[in-house]
Amino acid sequence: MSGNSSSRLSGFDRRAFMACAAGSALVPMTARAGALDAPAPVAQDPALHVEITLRVNGQDKRLSLDPRTTVLDALREHLKLTGSKKGCDHGQCGACTVLIGERRVVSCLTLALAAEGQEITTIEGLATGDQLHPMQQAFIDNDAFQCGYCTPGQIMSAVACVKEGHASSDADIREYMSGNICRCAAYPNIVAAMKQAAPEITKG
Ligand code: FES
Ligand code: FES
Repeated sequence: MSGNSSSRLSGFDRRAFMACAAGSALVPMTARAGALDAPAPVAQDPALHVEITLRVNGQDKRLSLDPRTTVLDALREHLKLTGSKKGCDHGQCGACTVLIGERRVVSCLTLALAAEGQEITTIEGLATGDQLHPMQQAFIDNDAFQCGYCTPGQIMSAVACVKEGHASSDADIREYMSGNICRCAAYPNIVAAMKQAAPEITKG
């Protein structure tokens, strides 16, 4: 540990010397040196991880997580369920949308701890065996994707949107799906897919 610190310090000394020699401001360098010497954030300590059980696609999953872990990172990094995509990681694109209970949520802004005890449904849990969910089938039938990156989030959001009763018109669909961005602009086909799937979902 002390050897590590001293090598960090000597790294700083070299950089500080070069900064002074070049006439650049020393204050930021000093601040960075202080940051290097600071102890690691406590939440990085594995001993402080929390044990939680997430119920994902009908199965209980026991995990030991940093308490700051989001549902998206728990799914992708810990459970290897990579269907939910990380687009912006800021709640702005909808690529990470999953269902918690009946509600659609952006999983990049939802703490895994907050989802404990609730049913999480991801795109991997939507089909029934080999039988695609009607919304998945409708996206295929209507060519409602190009690159496909936004598609898992679009489909999860679309399922919830229909169940919320917000798919009765094109305008409604556009309004209530506006949180799901498609950079390939497959929007007209997504609307068509939702109109195809809606009757089957609502009757079921
Ligand atoms: S990755 Fe979650 S909203 Fe963009
Ligand atoms: S299909 Fe490419 S971002 Fe939507």
